[in-house]
Amino acid sequence: MLSVIVPTYNERDNAAELIRRTLAAFDLIQEPVELLIVDDDSPDGTSAAMAEAAATHHAGERVRVITRSTDKGLAKAVAAGFAAARGDVLAVMDADLSHPPEQLPALLGAIRKGADVAVASRYVPEGGTEGWPLKRRIISRVACWLAKPLTPIRDSTSGYFALRRECLESVDFVPRGYKIGLELFARLPGRHTVEVPFVFRDRTRGSSKLGGAVILAYLVQLAALYRDRFPRLIGYLQFGLVGVLGMAVDSATFGMAYWYIGLKALGPTLGGFFAQTLSFLVAARFNFALNRLWTFRERRNHARMSVFLAVSLVGFALRSLLFEFIVNLPPPAAGGLWAGLVQAVSVEQIALILGVVLASAWNF
Ligand code: GDD
Repeated sequence: MLSVIVPTYNERDNAAELIRRTLAAFDLIQEPVELLIVDDDSPDGTSAAMAEAAATHHAGERVRVITRSTDKGLAKAVAAGFAAARGDVLAVMDADLSHPPEQLPALLGAIRKGADVAVASRYVPEGGTEGWPLKRRIISRVACWLAKPLTPIRDSTSGYFALRRECLESVDFVPRGYKIGLELFARLPGRHTVEVPFVFRDRTRGSSKLGGAVILAYLVQLAALYRDRFPRLIGYLQFGLVGVLGMAVDSATFGMAYWYIGLKALGPTLGGFFAQTLSFLVAARFNFALNRLWTFRERRNHARMSVFLAVSLVGFALRSLLFEFIVNLPPPAAGGLWAGLVQAVSVEQIALILGVVLASAWNF
């Protein structure tokens, strides 16, 4: 059985055509089907309009309207639809007819032929978009490109897809953000996915909810998905970012202690030593706190500050040794990569960068 879940918010004007065209598409499907409208108690009366359209077409059991009045939101609405659905195949589709219901038989057909997930795709041959301004096209392409490492699906931000219920049950589905499809696709690596071309025709009635908040929610969702999929890599990047901030804190503290507070008066050796010790300690404390709060926030056992300091000191020693080693290498013969690099920047800069990378890998 196929269950088609359509989340709605202020889609009254699309009700009649949505119900008519979806029921017509159902007539071409040779197995039981149902349409679940999951409305977040839209102020425009979407629920009533959908129920009325269903009655007009004598839809009976084939259309159910679920009206939610708490814990609203697109992802939560789709999750509620999944929970109420009876089918072994679940599809999600927009109400505004930008996702043509006529494509439902092809999506179900792909699943019945063996796919685990079938995505209605704009970005495969014969797929496309119509009526989208350039800005929207660019946003969509960039959004898909950003999700590339998470899924092989080209149109990973498509909100029109079908999947086997068992896929849903096999993942820890978190109803968050705006891209429910991507949330699932990213958690189903190795599953058999198929992209079925379709042309996205921009809505003619009602208005899209895409805006700054939706884009921000997408980026937050992407970051969470990356973190779940590549925890070590993302941890390392966060750790690196904290390290860069720590360097800024280090330099600022050094400057303040040496010039502003006046340690300079003790002379460059003694004054420099005290200022560096202070700035190292302040930066280490800063990094420690930020890593604890952010990079390793999910860890239960945190290192103690003394351990962190000891590790950082070893990192510092490693970095200094590598620096010394690199700057004392014999001058390179002309022509090679190393010679080119040394000529382009200075050997000290290369030594510093490699040293920082080594120390931060060690500290991590
Ligand atoms: N229940 C509920 N609650 N439904 C919602 C909510 C909500 O808070 N917000 C939006 N919806 C419904 C809309 O009524 C519509 O049926 C569907 O979710 C998609 O919302 P739109 O506002 O039409 O989406 P869009 O035009 O920005 O985005 C479209 O393009 C994306 C591809 O770039 C949609 O087709 C997305 O599904 C698609 O991923």
